[in-house]
Amino acid sequence: MNSYPEYQIYNLDKLTYAGNLENLKDVESKPNYHFIKGDITDKDEMQNIFKSHFFDAVIHLAAESHVDRSISGPDEFVLTNVVGTVNLLNAARTHWAGKMEGKLFYHVSTDEVYGSLGPKGAFTEFTAYDPRSPYSASKASSDHFVRAFHHTYGIPVVLSNCSNNYGSYQFPEKLIPLMIHNIKYEKPLPVYGKGLNVRDWLWVEDHARAIDTIFHKGKQGETYNIGGNNEWTNIDLVRRLCGIMDTKLGREAGTSEKLITYVQDRAGHDMRYAIDASKIKAELGWEPSIEFDKGFETTIDWYLEHSDWLNHVTSGAYLNYYSEQYADR
Ligand code: TYD
Repeated sequence: MNSYPEYQIYNLDKLTYAGNLENLKDVESKPNYHFIKGDITDKDEMQNIFKSHFFDAVIHLAAESHVDRSISGPDEFVLTNVVGTVNLLNAARTHWAGKMEGKLFYHVSTDEVYGSLGPKGAFTEFTAYDPRSPYSASKASSDHFVRAFHHTYGIPVVLSNCSNNYGSYQFPEKLIPLMIHNIKYEKPLPVYGKGLNVRDWLWVEDHARAIDTIFHKGKQGETYNIGGNNEWTNIDLVRRLCGIMDTKLGREAGTSEKLITYVQDRAGHDMRYAIDASKIKAELGWEPSIEFDKGFETTIDWYLEHSDWLNHVTSGAYLNYYSEQYADR
């Protein structure tokens, strides 16, 4: 909104459990920002919105994104991530027909489509798809549809596949905000399996900057991998978090680590993700801007300073999810 005052930006969101208008207070009064409450699984609604708004471009980030939820209920993931994406693509196809010049459909995806790595190597844009959870299968499918609409109907597209994000406003079903919340309230810290799975963590604002870069400079039809060059085993990450939180909360060193509880592993738990982000660096000049130490600490401070936000989103329906998800672990 601030960087592109000449753009009219429409934010379409269904506001399901993780959607929260409180997150958008900073931008809601900007003259070039508009909110539409809508559901991408409703194809007529998508056609109508495209018909009345003459969009030049779409940045598609609407998705069910939590692997554990996809394991307990895959159908919602097929509907939102696959059918929803096809509805958006069809709306673009209908309303951009004969005037594709200058249009762009940017699909934001995940590194999880590439499957699971052993101890060595990293995912490149040429790694064969091998999704192994209902979530990653649904995102892989949506990526294929985006490419198919490019090749078949000539829709100008670009895609990116990103590693795990951390930062402010992340719904506390994901590892880092969940652990921050539980450490704060001295609740058990549920580490799946032996905690040896590896993730490549990227600061969310660096991801946002990558999306901006790809949107403006990316080559049509291309895919760009985005990563943090920042691999951690879950247990090392959680231990480090415990150490920092002990200092910040004035607790004796080692106090929070005692909350670590090894629980039943996630079904089909991917062992390791790592991104080779050399293409986006070489071609578009993007690379992560922040040292992990700084990004991690800024993130922890943000959650500690925004207790109201954390309490709001952990009330109600989320509490039911939490007790169901971790009941027999
Ligand atoms: P998550 O944040 O769900 O992201 P993803 O599954 O997309 O990588 O999980 C990150 C890692 O942390 C993953 O290996 C699963 C693990 N994990 C736990 O050990 N305990 C938890 O309570 C959660 C939510 C995740």
